[in-house]
Amino acid sequence: MSDGVNGGGMAEKSPRESAGDVLEFAAEAEESADGGRRNPPWLILIVDDDHEVHAITRVVLGEMMFEERPVRFLSAYTARQARSLLAEQPGIAAILLDVVMETDDAGLKLVRHIREEMGNRQVRIILRTGQPGQAPERDVILSYDINDYKAKSELTAQKLYTAAVAALRSYQHIAAIERGRQGLERVMEAADHLAGLHSRSQFLAGLVGRAAALVTDARSALLCGVGEDGGPAILAEAGLPPDLPPEAAIDILPPEAAADIMAALADGQTRWGARHGIAVLRGRDAAPLALCLLGGPFAEGDRPLVELLCGKAAAGLDNLRLYERLNQAQIATVHALGKLAEYKDEVTGDHVRRLGRWATAIARELHARNAFADELDDWFCDTIGLASVLHDVGKVGIPDAILRKPGRLDDGEMAVMREHAAIGGSILRDASGGDRRGYLSMGAEIAESHHEKFDGSGYPQGLAGDAIPLAGRIVAVADVFDALLHRRPYKKAWDIGEVLDLLRAEAGSHFDPRVVDAFLVVLERDGAGV
Ligand SMILES: [Fe+2]
Repeated sequence: MSDGVNGGGMAEKSPRESAGDVLEFAAEAEESADGGRRNPPWLILIVDDDHEVHAITRVVLGEMMFEERPVRFLSAYTARQARSLLAEQPGIAAILLDVVMETDDAGLKLVRHIREEMGNRQVRIILRTGQPGQAPERDVILSYDINDYKAKSELTAQKLYTAAVAALRSYQHIAAIERGRQGLERVMEAADHLAGLHSRSQFLAGLVGRAAALVTDARSALLCGVGEDGGPAILAEAGLPPDLPPEAAIDILPPEAAADIMAALADGQTRWGARHGIAVLRGRDAAPLALCLLGGPFAEGDRPLVELLCGKAAAGLDNLRLYERLNQAQIATVHALGKLAEYKDEVTGDHVRRLGRWATAIARELHARNAFADELDDWFCDTIGLASVLHDVGKVGIPDAILRKPGRLDDGEMAVMREHAAIGGSILRDASGGDRRGYLSMGAEIAESHHEKFDGSGYPQGLAGDAIPLAGRIVAVADVFDALLHRRPYKKAWDIGEVLDLLRAEAGSHFDPRVVDAFLVVLERDGAGV
């Protein structure tokens, strides 16, 4: 084997030299005596209590090559030894198995153990018996999951050779089908994983990581587009040395791989070589991207799996692009609606911005405490700041005579004023278009619920406790805090001590005490001067 990528010498090499090792590193090839590389051998296990049978088998099959791979023998002289070997050594292709060893049916019991207890249906088992009377062929081939039955007396060198080749060919096909099945599973799992990511950088990093893991002999995976200089530019990579800058990685790409990347980006065609494989992601309205795998030699079955992954990833990137556009449209809508509310209300944009920052800080503090784990996640923390801008947007539906009345509102006017919560919720819910995880849908929830009180005495619905949406409970605290702390046309600014006393006093009645507690910690840590 080549000196190891993980070897101790790595630290003494420059990044470029280290990368060279990675890129040139050969797959599971074995070093032959003349220094050349050979393909990994087929493993054949001989299980027989007769030492001579082992020796003869090695003589007859020792020089055998199948699909340019040699054969390596493992020997067990009892069924018990065979069990240990099978447990320790994965990838045994065929077993030449005696029946009568430590017991009359030791070989047959080993068949059951392999198929049923180990669950190994791939290994090909050729039963070789010296006493056919002990294990009649018709009974055994029906009752045990074996693949061939030979009486030692009839087993000439040629017949043994033919049986061994047939077993290896059969194993090769089964192993290829199994690899394909597992590969498909990994592609589908990777596609599911990628579909759940809403960040472009996470998506691209996830794609190259899954691609490198999908192909057994891939040492590294690069996702490339066309750079500003017209050459390949690396957008994401997996498997390169961590201290290698991406621009240096481009320089140490094998020249034929770099040329194939550019050709694939130009014509959209897959290129599959011995040491690099390139498949293309073709988006609906985006420039193509090339996924390049380095390492190898790659198996024939790897190519369709990588192409499938690229097809799924291209569709995922299209969806991500649509999500980003929707998100940007929602942000623009939030800002526009926020401005509209500012024109109408005497409350300044500063209050709204501070409120957003407080709400975000409270959400992050609660998230860090693992509170409300069912509903509080990174998306919630990233969204509540902007969504809270919309809490009073329903005031656009309140007559100016009430909204801007300098004195106290009478009961009738107060009832009209309170309608702003439901109006805001209704406007925003319509605008959200049914999207349940967006700024507008969270804004609708906040608008509807920011005047609810924890003890059920708030409006518009008189919800209590956890029935009030969490975002509404958080904004209620942040809104009251900021409104009291700053001057309004109808009131002076309160002292911070007075405001904190009110929050503590109202925890459990007006406010959710867990939210108040988190906010007090935020204020203690960050101060109140935003
Ligand atoms: Fe309000």
